[in-house]
Amino acid sequence: MADSTHPVAEAAQQAAAGDHVVIFDTTLRDGEQSPGASMTIEEKIRVAQVLEEMGVDVIEAGFPIASEGDFQAVNAIARIVKESVVCGLSRASAADIDRAAEALQPAARKRIHTFIATSPLHMKFKLQMEPEQVLQRVIDSVSRARRHTDDVEWSCEDGSRTEHEFLFRCVEAAIEAGATTINIPDTVGYAYPEEFADLIREIRNNVPNIDKAVISVHCHNDLGLAVANSLMAVEAGARQIECTINGIGERAGNAALEEVVMAMRTRADLLPYRNRIVTQEIMKASRLVSAITGFAIQPNKAIVGTNAFAHESGIHQDGMLKHAGTYEIMKPEDVGLVKSSLVMGKHSGRHAFRKKLEELGYELGENALNDAFLRFKNLADRKKEVFDEDIVALVDDQIGAG
Ligand code: KIV
Ligand code: ZN
Repeated sequence: MADSTHPVAEAAQQAAAGDHVVIFDTTLRDGEQSPGASMTIEEKIRVAQVLEEMGVDVIEAGFPIASEGDFQAVNAIARIVKESVVCGLSRASAADIDRAAEALQPAARKRIHTFIATSPLHMKFKLQMEPEQVLQRVIDSVSRARRHTDDVEWSCEDGSRTEHEFLFRCVEAAIEAGATTINIPDTVGYAYPEEFADLIREIRNNVPNIDKAVISVHCHNDLGLAVANSLMAVEAGARQIECTINGIGERAGNAALEEVVMAMRTRADLLPYRNRIVTQEIMKASRLVSAITGFAIQPNKAIVGTNAFAHESGIHQDGMLKHAGTYEIMKPEDVGLVKSSLVMGKHSGRHAFRKKLEELGYELGENALNDAFLRFKNLADRKKEVFDEDIVALVDDQIGAG
């Protein structure tokens, strides 16, 4: 039985009761499904350890039946991770579910996540099954997973494009068969925030026993709406968000963990929900996942891009030197950065240049400063970014010449 004094068990209880949002990270499963992102077992273990330190409630460690390597990775993570729930994915078949259970066997806290597609398109063309057959598979798969653990998540793949009455029947059947988390994926990133929130509300209003389970959402980013859809779903009553570090995942990726969490932290006035994430660990996790997968982070990526806390324009730099709140809505320390950076370039102003010189140990008189600033602007017109070494060379040259 679940230990109710454990922090993750407490988190799950609070989620069911109210304002706690369970953070379910699928970097090691859906994230790894991005073309070119595959990781070795050792790399997966390192990522899992960082996720655990970060306070992730549920770590989806892989898809054990997919390959021997995936099985071994889930099994190794199940041995090592103690605080977070370790989850393994399975299709709606006995072989998949049993293999996931075998991989998860050593876990202190384990979850089996079983899924089947429920949209007309997927049922007809991919599964080639009638809706009633799919419904029966929902019942069989969840019941089988419950034989292995009392923590079972059921997902309706392509849920956002599923016919609503059929979706309600599937959700109800999954809960009756023992599912404790019901995940509604926007598998192809097609949903629009208000529409997706309405779907969550409709599920809550039309499935009689819905309060027995935590509602989860799993949003893909094909239209760049994964984070917005996830947050709107929480407002509508979802209490688990599935996400990945740096938003990696199939095609355009999944909702980015760092964006979801920092939005909740920064806009707590609008999103009064709690989660267990230690946000100061965000940069570490982001850099590790980027280094391991070889996926560079775009400079303007929200929260973790190199420009997310960098300022170049003179007006912005001047504002920042007077009060950081002028151009920053989050503190860099809150995501694990030491401080914001004032990037020296052609848009930088005199005020920032003087500050940079002070940092570099120079104290120039007014005339010398004017001279150096002119030379810096000339250089900045020729160079995208002017580094500290360039400024040192420029000033030393000027002092030497003088
Ligand atoms: O996007 C999706 O539908 C999935 C499911 C397996 C949850 O990744
Ligand atoms: Zn997915």
